[in-house]
Amino acid sequence: MSVRRLHEEQPESFAFSAENLARVDAWIAKFPAGRQASAVISALWIGQEQEGWVTKPMIEEVARILAMPSIRVLEVATFYTMFHLAPVGKHHVQVCTTTPCWLRGSDEVVKACKRHIADKPHTVSADGEFSWEEVECLGACVNAPMVLINSDPYEDLTGEKAGEIIEALRRGEHPQTGSQIGRHSSEPEGGPTTLISIVKEKV
Ligand code: FES
Repeated sequence: MSVRRLHEEQPESFAFSAENLARVDAWIAKFPAGRQASAVISALWIGQEQEGWVTKPMIEEVARILAMPSIRVLEVATFYTMFHLAPVGKHHVQVCTTTPCWLRGSDEVVKACKRHIADKPHTVSADGEFSWEEVECLGACVNAPMVLINSDPYEDLTGEKAGEIIEALRRGEHPQTGSQIGRHSSEPEGGPTTLISIVKEKV
């Protein structure tokens, strides 16, 4: 994964909408007085929902509202890959390339992103629909390789299947999320291998 740093081109300013400022205030109110910095992730998330990505002026505004140094807000924004540090497409594809996903073929999924979206990560496709990046483990290793597209996981992928999902989304369809080989939850490929007699008895 490349170093996470703020995008080179930044807007001049940022302000929460009145509705979103109220949401940030509601989060601050959940924590004891003087502990408002605990709302930093929620505030950044709300800002990202509003703008599509986390900007430098947004980081400064969150720091001002939460009365904390902006470097602390920057640390949070650059640590968690849930925060986008550059503009993203309507569908942002996060490809897990950590060891279990890599061993199960994430290189092919990355190639599919290059083919169907853009040659380089953090690049919005010509139609504005897609962007992609490599990320570390997304917690679905048992169904590797996998991607997260916005909030939807797609698991047990091949490069070909990843490309099909991207094109289906491009057509406005809603491809099935989760395992792409019909695996129930995270059971072994081919079905359960243990406690089978107990399952049969219950049936
Ligand atoms: S290694 Fe890919 S989800 Fe954990």
